[in-house]
Amino acid sequence: MPITLERVSYTYAAGTAFETAALDSVSLSIAGGEFVGLVGHTGCGKSTLVQLMAGLLRPTSGKVLLDGKDINLKGYRREELREKVGLLFQFPECQLFETTVERDVAFGLKHLPLSAEEKAERVRWALERTGFSFEQIRHQSPLGLSGGERRRIAIAGVLATRPQILILDEPVASLDPMGRRDFMELISRLNREGTTIVIISHNADILGEYAHRVLVLEQGKLCIDAPVKEVFQDTERLKTYHLAVSQPRHIARLLQQKGLPFPQDIVRYGDLLTGIKALVEGGRER
Ligand SMILES: Nc1ncnc2c1ncn2[C@@H]1O[C@H](COP(=O)(O)OP(=O)(O)O)[C@@H](O)[C@H]1O
Ligand SMILES: [Mg+2]
Repeated sequence: MPITLERVSYTYAAGTAFETAALDSVSLSIAGGEFVGLVGHTGCGKSTLVQLMAGLLRPTSGKVLLDGKDINLKGYRREELREKVGLLFQFPECQLFETTVERDVAFGLKHLPLSAEEKAERVRWALERTGFSFEQIRHQSPLGLSGGERRRIAIAGVLATRPQILILDEPVASLDPMGRRDFMELISRLNREGTTIVIISHNADILGEYAHRVLVLEQGKLCIDAPVKEVFQDTERLKTYHLAVSQPRHIARLLQQKGLPFPQDIVRYGDLLTGIKALVEGGRER
């Protein structure tokens, strides 16, 4: 299911003294099954962009099309959007409000055309997928849990709706490295099973490792839309857009400076290992 933006602009508080132009004529298209990273300096419009994709904001001008249909046209079935697009907000742990974890995770299923059994099964599945024991956690209050646990509950709430397009706004920012890895493995698995992923993150290692394509926003404009390798190998360009360099790219660059002949396109740990292996084997043959 493709999602397409046609010259989308968005201005907050238009016509007031607080008017802020957040997005300026952004056009892009994401095909079903893609894994896309969305990056850019704070305030460049990333969160605004994903809220437009999820239909939570209406463009000031331009169109958002889901499967070819304009989601902001009168008569568009909003339920379709809610069923197909899931958005995890930037600080999702602040949005839990039900009395039990089970009720919280089930909240987004309320209006879906599923039987009670199907809904219960979805809640169990989502909580288990996010690393909980369903029986142990279901009756607990979300308020008594740690920040990391609350975040996983919020993620379970989005997963339970089984969106075809899953949008994540800085999901790993407050997770520790282990939690980050587990979380990304989960997202990667969902992608391999067919879910489209759009992820906002400042973490170059994570994007380098998992994303296929990267979109770079600057001051509300889409200035790069390219394969991940192309974006993350060009360290000069990364600097221009205030973007971080991935660790493997950084290490390869340091080794290059020491005179070792590494290729320029090392972005992932796998690339680095391949480069080192080639170097060692080449040395042995000589
Ligand atoms: N609710 C809002 N009201 C007014 N301005 C906003 C609001 N949300 C964001 N902005 C402004 O819109 C611009 C883009 O913000 P945002 O989409 O949150 O960027 P990012 O997620 O990349 O940090 C910023 O200048 C920000 O200050
Ligand atoms: Mg943001």
